[in-house]
Amino acid sequence: MAQVDNSKLETMPLISGNSSQNHQNSVNLNHGNHISSKKLCIVQQRKSLPIASVEGRLVEEVRKNDTLIIVGETGSGKTTQLPQYLFNAGFCCDGKVIGITQPRRVAAVTVAKRVAEECDVQLGQEVGFAIRFEDVTSSSTRIKYMTDGLLLREALLDPTLSRYRVVIVDEAHERTVHTDVLLGLLKKVQGLRSNQHNLKKDDISSLVKFDYGGWSSNALKPCQNMKLNPLKLIIMSASLDAKVFSEFFGGAKAVHVQGRQHPVDILYTYNPEPDYIDATLITIFQIHLDEGPGDILAFLTGQEEIESVDRLVHERLKQLPEGNRNILTIPMYSSLPSEQQLNVFRPAPSGFRKIILSTNIAETSVTIPGVKYVVDPGLVKARSYNPATGLEALIIIPISKAQALQRSGRAGREGPGKCFRLYPESEFGKLVNSTVPEIKRCSLSSVVLQLKALGIDDIIGFDFMEKPSRMAIVKSIEQLYLLGALTDDYKLSDPIGFQMARFPLDPIYSKALILSGEFRCLEEMLIVVAMLSVETIFYSPREKLEEARTVWKRFSSPDGDHVMLVRIFRAAAEFMEKIRAESSKAKKIDKSLHKWCRENFINCRSLKHSLEVHSQIRKQLLQMGLSFSSCEEDMLQFRRCLTASFFLNAAVKQADGSYRAMASGQIVQIHPSSVLFRTKPECIVFNELIRTNQNYVRNVTRVDLLWLPELAPQYYATEN
Ligand code: CDP
Ligand code: MG
Repeated sequence: MAQVDNSKLETMPLISGNSSQNHQNSVNLNHGNHISSKKLCIVQQRKSLPIASVEGRLVEEVRKNDTLIIVGETGSGKTTQLPQYLFNAGFCCDGKVIGITQPRRVAAVTVAKRVAEECDVQLGQEVGFAIRFEDVTSSSTRIKYMTDGLLLREALLDPTLSRYRVVIVDEAHERTVHTDVLLGLLKKVQGLRSNQHNLKKDDISSLVKFDYGGWSSNALKPCQNMKLNPLKLIIMSASLDAKVFSEFFGGAKAVHVQGRQHPVDILYTYNPEPDYIDATLITIFQIHLDEGPGDILAFLTGQEEIESVDRLVHERLKQLPEGNRNILTIPMYSSLPSEQQLNVFRPAPSGFRKIILSTNIAETSVTIPGVKYVVDPGLVKARSYNPATGLEALIIIPISKAQALQRSGRAGREGPGKCFRLYPESEFGKLVNSTVPEIKRCSLSSVVLQLKALGIDDIIGFDFMEKPSRMAIVKSIEQLYLLGALTDDYKLSDPIGFQMARFPLDPIYSKALILSGEFRCLEEMLIVVAMLSVETIFYSPREKLEEARTVWKRFSSPDGDHVMLVRIFRAAAEFMEKIRAESSKAKKIDKSLHKWCRENFINCRSLKHSLEVHSQIRKQLLQMGLSFSSCEEDMLQFRRCLTASFFLNAAVKQADGSYRAMASGQIVQIHPSSVLFRTKPECIVFNELIRTNQNYVRNVTRVDLLWLPELAPQYYATEN
């Protein structure tokens, strides 16, 4: 591997006041002549961004280098500005697209909206976005924001990514599993494209292994022009450590765009905090009461936690004197419904303080203006995978030093700020320097399936940026084989493997959908998959838990949580149908649905999201020609189908009431939120493992032990 010459990490200093060149280039996408004050404000904001002073030099570097690494502090304008600079410099003149990938959905959506506004075009026209289950692009789209996972799926249809002139892999420092795989794939695509002059049309079409039915591609027609320009690849990162990327791309050039950072006071607690939620609340109110104006950004670990802190803030607010209640809370997490995503960028009404409750998405992906105080409990929810057991779990772990620095940096974007770390200073020294890439701590089944679908059979030999462990690869190949996605010689099986690769879902869920046709319960399985694809559907306020449990009883089933999910979904759908018959006004329907959710202790955001996911997967199932069927009330069929699908997650009861997971031998407990928590059947299948002080399984259904060898003989017939 080429050594990186560190002198290549050139610094591009801020050139203050040099705006003439930007002025000339900045609004070429703009169609309108009429400049309103809002537009003027946008033009001024753009011009004042640190990146604006180096526009010309950046465009030049992209012209000169096929691969370029851009390091720049968060908020310097990389994500929103660079694509526009390249567009204006003519990188799309032959109808080609600039694609920008983001690790998170919310970032792709909010940035696309912002850039469309900056360019004064309608979202979905010249500027658009595509994420799993939502495509807002058209044939005129030239700047396309998307998730990294989505671009990977596009490569299935278009292996040379021929419609793209430039691909920008943004937030590369996050090192999500999709980013890592994408970088390996892009390196390969660059090779293919630079050899393309020798490539005949047949060679390219032979790479397209199957017809791609994803919903991400309706807008952009596959490129007919076989004369592909080399693919320009730009890797953007907020971390100064560009060396790993440069080395991976044969010593690619790295440039540094300097940002603006004001001093941030870091404050630690004297002692470790036993309850970080409580500590977060206390700190928020301390800041609100004792500190000067400025918004507060608190880092939490997930949607449920954010929603519960949101409620607690409002409860405690009631105890404050009237004059001190001027607080506005704003949640921010990855699956936030689109109508709420832009709230975070709106300034608080005058006299109010904004409190943003966010997952680590606000660390670097999304820059929120107005923040002066950061509250950092120092934790993050992360995937963890044990290749020995084959089980993946979500766990809450301490952040890395790099993350702590990024978080505190958020307080100093517009002026001096303060960061309250809710742990003692001695703990900071113990944090790891940087986060372990996700590819080293997640199940690889999904990745292996996609690579196989791309015609890459030698997974161990694939050029990964960081190789996952051999054991993790072998385990995932074994799992895919057991699910029937691979043949005896580990090639993608036809049709099951190919069908499975077409779903943007975990392979186990894809298999469950395919199988459910045979068991005549596709409708039910589709509901389960949609409901499990969103964060929890239950709304369980601490103070009304008993009331909520009583209400949920009307949906509950002795068969388990999956049947209950089906019942809730059906009740909601039935209710929607009823109100639609009464009124066609979207606002009224929405209001009624909210009321229904409140009464039934259902999380309305999650429910709406799952309705959306349901309709998208349904479309794809129709495209694939799978036959719809319902087992109606015959839940036996449905439970048998769950067994045939989730047999790798089966567990049997032990004498002490705990369970032994069959595949891993691990001891697990049924989560208290499950309807089977008390009844404790002999044998169960489950969907999710949560690791806290114990191993809990969630989304559980009772099954018959004897079904396992009958319905999953490939796994159970010989072993037991
Ligand atoms: O990518 P990078 O962190 O370098 O910056 P960016 O995301 O391009 O953000 C540049 C500026 O645009 C920041 O000041 C953001 O607050 C602002 N922005 C916004 O006002 N609304 C959005 N939806 C996205 C960004
Ligand atoms: Mg960015």
